[in-house]
Amino acid sequence: MEFYNTVRKKVMYELKKGENNFIIFPFGEVGKMIEGIILQTGKQCHILRADNNKTDSTVISFDEMLSSKYQAYKILLAIFGEETHKELLIQLNNEKIDKNRIVDFCICQDDKEKTIYEDVDFWGRIDPRRGMLERCAREIYYRNVPGQCAEAGVFRGDFAKHINYWFPDRELYLIDTFEGFDDRDVEYDESNTLSKSPETAWEDTSELIVLGKMPNKQMCKLIKGWFPDSVRDLECTYAFVSLDMDLYQPILEGLRYFYPRLNHGGYIMVHDCCNDFYKGARKALDDFCKEEGISYVICSDVYGSGVLTK
Ligand SMILES: C[S@@+](CC[C@H](N)C(=O)[O-])C[C@H]1O[C@@H](n2cnc3c(N)ncnc32)[C@H](O)[C@@H]1O
Repeated sequence: MEFYNTVRKKVMYELKKGENNFIIFPFGEVGKMIEGIILQTGKQCHILRADNNKTDSTVISFDEMLSSKYQAYKILLAIFGEETHKELLIQLNNEKIDKNRIVDFCICQDDKEKTIYEDVDFWGRIDPRRGMLERCAREIYYRNVPGQCAEAGVFRGDFAKHINYWFPDRELYLIDTFEGFDDRDVEYDESNTLSKSPETAWEDTSELIVLGKMPNKQMCKLIKGWFPDSVRDLECTYAFVSLDMDLYQPILEGLRYFYPRLNHGGYIMVHDCCNDFYKGARKALDDFCKEEGISYVICSDVYGSGVLTK
């Protein structure tokens, strides 16, 4: 609860000062939490959501956030994690934004690691994607579902470390190029107007960064390379799989690869199904479900994860 209380105190401080125009940037799970805290106070406030990725029509872009009409708005920097925090501060500094306009909600890495594993139940409720992972894990153990775990689309391992935490005795296959998107996948999305991604997206990572975050490293297997080619030699069945590769082709191939290998009672979570920035995720899930004659549940997380079971 420590992080929540700190955030709440900061929000209350701004409200007491009479601030009532806020832009929450970026608008992820922490942003959603801050919005909830402000709304719960019942104070008349004008709240805008801003993000580098225009994830839906309620979210304004970074450039819009900087426009003169929003000069009077305080920017609530809503980020949980030191790496992204640094990047966003550089982005704001580059635009020479008045520092007094920024209210920074980040907490440092040490505190972060501590809160993640000590406050698991709390975080499960604040971040529905993590809450869903926890529930899936508990169900899998309760029903003795056999099989390993995998995440395809790992980036810096910030979701994978939670999978590794909840499944301490299962192998975790960490599947990524670890060099960002592949041109073949990007071209398909762009020519089908599913997403428009900068080609450099998700390059800033490495296997070392990822492994460094895993609480049960001995269970982790790094699979570097272009999916699905990278998994041709794997011989495994699965209990839990996270697909978070953003683009249509790898997600569709991910479903075609993992679903037949999913054990009865297992789960596949597909991230970004309600993220307008990456429309390929939902389309891949829909197309796959049509092929198989199955359906899915959408979670209440910001980007809407789709969940399949068998
Ligand atoms: C959104 S990031 C993953 C974020 C991560 N799951 C998290 O929650 O922190 C998407 C990742 O998918 C990877 N990716 C996309 N297409 C891929 C492909 N065809 N093969 C391997 N990795 C791919 C990218 O390299 C990138 O690291």
